[in-house]
Amino acid sequence: MDRVQIGLIGCGLFGESHLQAYRAVRTAEIAALYDTDERRAAQMAAEFGIPRICRSLEEICALPLDAIDVVTPEELHLEPVLAAVAAGKHVFVEKPLSTDLAQCDRMIQAAGAAGRCLMVGQILRFETKYAMLKDEIASGRLGRVVSMHARRNRLKTLLPRYGRTHPCIENSIHDIDLMLWYTGQRVQRVRGYSRNATGAKHADTFWGILEFEGGALGVVETIWLLPQASGIILDDAFQFVGDAGVGNVQLVPAALSYWQEDGNHVPDNSYDPRVANSARGALREELAYFCDCVLDGRMPQVITAIEAKRAVRVALALVRSSQSEQDVELTEWD
Ligand SMILES: NC(=O)c1ccc[n+]([C@@H]2O[C@H](COP(=O)([O-])OP(=O)(O)OC[C@H]3O[C@@H](n4cnc5c(N)ncnc54)[C@H](O)[C@@H]3O)[C@@H](O)[C@H]2O)c1
Repeated sequence: MDRVQIGLIGCGLFGESHLQAYRAVRTAEIAALYDTDERRAAQMAAEFGIPRICRSLEEICALPLDAIDVVTPEELHLEPVLAAVAAGKHVFVEKPLSTDLAQCDRMIQAAGAAGRCLMVGQILRFETKYAMLKDEIASGRLGRVVSMHARRNRLKTLLPRYGRTHPCIENSIHDIDLMLWYTGQRVQRVRGYSRNATGAKHADTFWGILEFEGGALGVVETIWLLPQASGIILDDAFQFVGDAGVGNVQLVPAALSYWQEDGNHVPDNSYDPRVANSARGALREELAYFCDCVLDGRMPQVITAIEAKRAVRVALALVRSSQSEQDVELTEWD
């Protein structure tokens, strides 16, 4: 086996990004697609030259594939993951692993019992700048963590699609996972604050404060109110303050921008950038790593499913805190 045979479930916006990224992964071959929206599946199959469109979850899982990639909406990961694992497939599933801790457990147990990979798309662990900061922290040159602050703001026009899930679970999950990865510490207590300026289903504005077992503080911010005319699609930043130094990641001001007659444009050059219509960046790195794990017969170590569940635990506690307007203690961890 020199190419992993993959079936992709969920051909929406990010499913399309996955298909683009796999094109640039020599060890991947997308053999089949399934989406409950048959027209969307047909459109993606035509665009990416995928030989088979399946009409059901059962049909795609019954194919002789090595792996299934689940890119369905946040609340709909459980059923395809369990079906894929039951059919003996390795699984890549987009973040968050689930919006429910009991569902996380069911997926982790099923994959563990079947001896199959369950890799969760915590993409920042594969983004060059965030991963370099991890190395610097691990080297000890920044000293012991004191404070972390993360910003992850998005266009208001994306709310109709992603407002289906609370922004802390949908978006801050990335920075929560980073903070857990960078510190290697448990979170003891959280306080969340949600605001809703647009009448979104959950909230369009979220701030969360995390208190770590060693005393460090973390702040995550995600706001979905950026105007389209800003030309900014990714207003992301992270600051790690240690007692011996500071590490900064910043996507804006950007290293690449275009000043044009219709305004300022800052293209993504971190997560899913394209050069000559070929994917580069973190998503390609992440999916290539998954394929390497499958080919080599090893479990993913850069991100484990247990770690992904911890981030879900913290995100859910933050949402509960924003609803109760009180601190939430985390008494359980794994
Ligand atoms: N890592 C990242 O940076 C990143 C970015 C965007 C999205 N995501 C994640 O990717 C996942 C998908 O997001 P998206 O932006 O593609 O959403 P989307 O709404 O654009 O696409 C979801 C697709 O899944 C299909 N679908 C829904 N229920 C299904 C089911 N039961 N079986 C099969 N197909 C089904 C829909 O028809 C749709 O085509 C989410 O978990 C999201 O959080 C991650």
